[in-house]
Amino acid sequence: MVSSSSGAQVLVASNRGPVSYSLGADGTLTSRRGGGGLVSGLSAIGPDAGAVWVCAALGDGDREAARRAAAGDGLLDPGDTGGQSVRMLDIAPEVFADAYNGVANSVLWFVHHLLYQTPLEPAFDAEFRGQWASYEAYNAAFADALAEAAAPGAAVLVQDYHLTLVPGLLRERRPDLRIGHFSHTPWAPPDYFRLLPDDVAAEVLRGILGGDRAAFLTHRWAAAFAECCAAVLDAEVARDGEAGLRVTYEGRTTRLGVHGLGADADFLRERSRQPDVDERLADLREQIGTGEDGAPRKTIVRVDRTELSKNIVRGLQAYRRLLTDRPEWRGRVVHIAFAYPSRQDLAVYRQYTEEVGRLAAEINDEFGTDGWLPVVLHVKDDFARSLAAYRLADVALVNPIRDGMNLVAKEVPVVSEAGCALVLSREAGACAELAEDALVVNPYDIGGTAEALHAALTMPQDERAERAKRLAAAATALPPAQWFLDQLRALGG
Ligand code: G6P
Repeated sequence: MVSSSSGAQVLVASNRGPVSYSLGADGTLTSRRGGGGLVSGLSAIGPDAGAVWVCAALGDGDREAARRAAAGDGLLDPGDTGGQSVRMLDIAPEVFADAYNGVANSVLWFVHHLLYQTPLEPAFDAEFRGQWASYEAYNAAFADALAEAAAPGAAVLVQDYHLTLVPGLLRERRPDLRIGHFSHTPWAPPDYFRLLPDDVAAEVLRGILGGDRAAFLTHRWAAAFAECCAAVLDAEVARDGEAGLRVTYEGRTTRLGVHGLGADADFLRERSRQPDVDERLADLREQIGTGEDGAPRKTIVRVDRTELSKNIVRGLQAYRRLLTDRPEWRGRVVHIAFAYPSRQDLAVYRQYTEEVGRLAAEINDEFGTDGWLPVVLHVKDDFARSLAAYRLADVALVNPIRDGMNLVAKEVPVVSEAGCALVLSREAGACAELAEDALVVNPYDIGGTAEALHAALTMPQDERAERAKRLAAAATALPPAQWFLDQLRALGG
């Protein structure tokens, strides 16, 4: 067992860290900082808290940065991390690829998002068993690093489906620590979760139950986790004060928590008024143009990773149905669809990306005219352009098959200038908080989604503005800093 008398009081562990590196041909490293709830959350506790973030090296640049750090104090150059202490783990590339692509993104992600359907079927063969061994090794590497870096009694916040085994492995190494796990994804219902081989399903649940707390974005996902513990492990589930539930298994009790991450209103309002966003807004306005009556065209905006669970293809099909069934919209509306590349190591993601491009082109061929491009599809990740689209949005389309939360649904109402209407899938975690003022759809129902788009486009301006105001208030109720501090407090930190 590794233990430490000094060390960090607060630790965060996640697959993707707050910074990534690219390696130039001449050996120079260029760093790029990421955003998101964890980055703002962790910065909220300030440098005096002595927090350390442990993450994986994802590519060659990261690996080189991790090696250079290992030659010093083990931490990345604070100049690259905004002063945060970050330890990047240099995990063997084959082990990482198996754990991240093979198990986390192809199996666990698919199970929690209910993505398996013919011909996308799970294959629990010898290759999977090898990948599972890598997933165990990758989780053990995190547990080792955390055990080494943590001060006695420290609080450790372990993130997401990549690291489900860490709480249990860390508890074996350091029983003194307070350990929490947070799932950013939905949690599968028991019948679907049991697609996993029995030993794997049990190991995942036991891993998370190694922590003192297991937290989720909504009550629905927390309840599904508890049901899986009862169905797979025969664990005892009881009602509990805080978030409603606790699970007892082999004499240990893990409390379940719910923390619904919200949009960062101050950051978004400030960032979306920067000159680079203004510039992109002007470009987009030009691309969108005006209808025959000279009025600016209405916009339906979506911004996603090109991700199967985001349901982009059905969104485009719904837009095509709208133009087919309601010809009055031809020439008067533009669908701005930003679909940024994601997980392109996986063939199924590459195929999906192609399908999105093909369908957008088909719609443009079918309906487009000299002066009107019905779909404006951008695939190059550009945060400033996303914010410009948010500002322009008359309607936001957020129609995932299933989503842990979906922050786009929360961000657009905060930034939109016209006060946008929100067409929102009932299967997004955000729906639990926004259902009252959104137009809620079944993500599989293309006709229903087309009708909701029509209703959103025709909603009277004052009603839209009123609803957008209430959506923005609900969406910002738990800003990232508070979200993070609440979790820490709940661990007794
Ligand atoms: C989801 C997951 C995150 C993940 C992100 C991007 O939001 O919950 O853990 O980092 O997707 O996916 P990627 O595979 O690019 O890290």
